[in-house]
Amino acid sequence: MQSVLMDVDTGIDDALALVYLLSRPEVTIQAITCTAGNVGARQVALNNLALLELCGRAGVEVAVGAEVPLEIPLVTTEETHGPQGIGYAELPRPAGEISPRHAVDVWVETVRAHPGEITGLITGPLTNFALALRREPDLPRLLKGLVIMGGCFNYQGNTTPTAEWNVSVDPHAAQEVFAAYSGLPQDSLPVVCALETTERIEMRPEHLQRLAEAAGAGEPELVLPEQPEGQRSRSRNLLVACLSDAIRFYMEFHRLYDQGFVAHMHDAFAAAVAVGRTPFQTRPATVHVETGSPRLIGTTVADFRGIWKEPANARIVVSNDPGQCFDELIASVGALARSLPLRSS
Ligand code: BDR
Ligand code: CA
Repeated sequence: MQSVLMDVDTGIDDALALVYLLSRPEVTIQAITCTAGNVGARQVALNNLALLELCGRAGVEVAVGAEVPLEIPLVTTEETHGPQGIGYAELPRPAGEISPRHAVDVWVETVRAHPGEITGLITGPLTNFALALRREPDLPRLLKGLVIMGGCFNYQGNTTPTAEWNVSVDPHAAQEVFAAYSGLPQDSLPVVCALETTERIEMRPEHLQRLAEAAGAGEPELVLPEQPEGQRSRSRNLLVACLSDAIRFYMEFHRLYDQGFVAHMHDAFAAAVAVGRTPFQTRPATVHVETGSPRLIGTTVADFRGIWKEPANARIVVSNDPGQCFDELIASVGALARSLPLRSS
């Protein structure tokens, strides 16, 4: 069994990451904590609760933490992820409630209770985790491992010319987290999935078609560039329909920015990395996050060659296998979808 504690800002690709982990029989999600990012933290929590219920997994704790970044005002991005954060998907209001525990308490208490057993997965800004580290500086040693989706190294940003979204929303938190790992043994350093490898996880219409087939859908699931914007899925499989409606929005967004009718599934890749189900290679590096310069704030810089003469504080993913990653996501999520009841037409 593998235990994962997630912190997310759901988010279309966070949604796929969550559904993917729910689809893995060997994975236990200890809890899901919510950070403001793509949308506000409470909306993130509602999205997670609704997705858990859609997947028949109500009961996983969903907690909210910091609702704003450490030092700068919150910016959200409904333009990228839709008004509620899950594109065109509209899920019923969840029956489950947000946990009364604060996200920081969830991290500290859960990891202390299971030393050496939990893999942390963070696919949103690092606000909650930075606050948890202030409370329990030993978290890096108590965790089994940590996987972060964030940053970009020698590669253009997706939020400013040099900054990636998760780091850009809370650069001070990201800088604190990397500083906290300085000088720790290499096998405990965070594995960082940054844009240069996550933008290779490019979802295309054929992947959605394959997902619906894997779910046993009778009709082909067609999300096509020539269709009117906002067209909704007619799939009787509610999980297929949800992912299709969410990802269509993300594909339209990427097209708007001249990236084609595709969607980058950053967070789903990070989830597959966290549970060891997709191949990747890393290189150790010393990472700093720019927090001062107005034009460069949120920029992540990696020293791979020891030029700063500071110990490594991260392992940056330098290669991955998008084809295998999609095979894995489609087979696993497809099998989960196939097991769910269909909506009556
Ligand atoms: C990251 O930013 C968010 O919009 C995505 O969910 C992902 O975590 C990519 O830069
Ligand atoms: Ca995210």
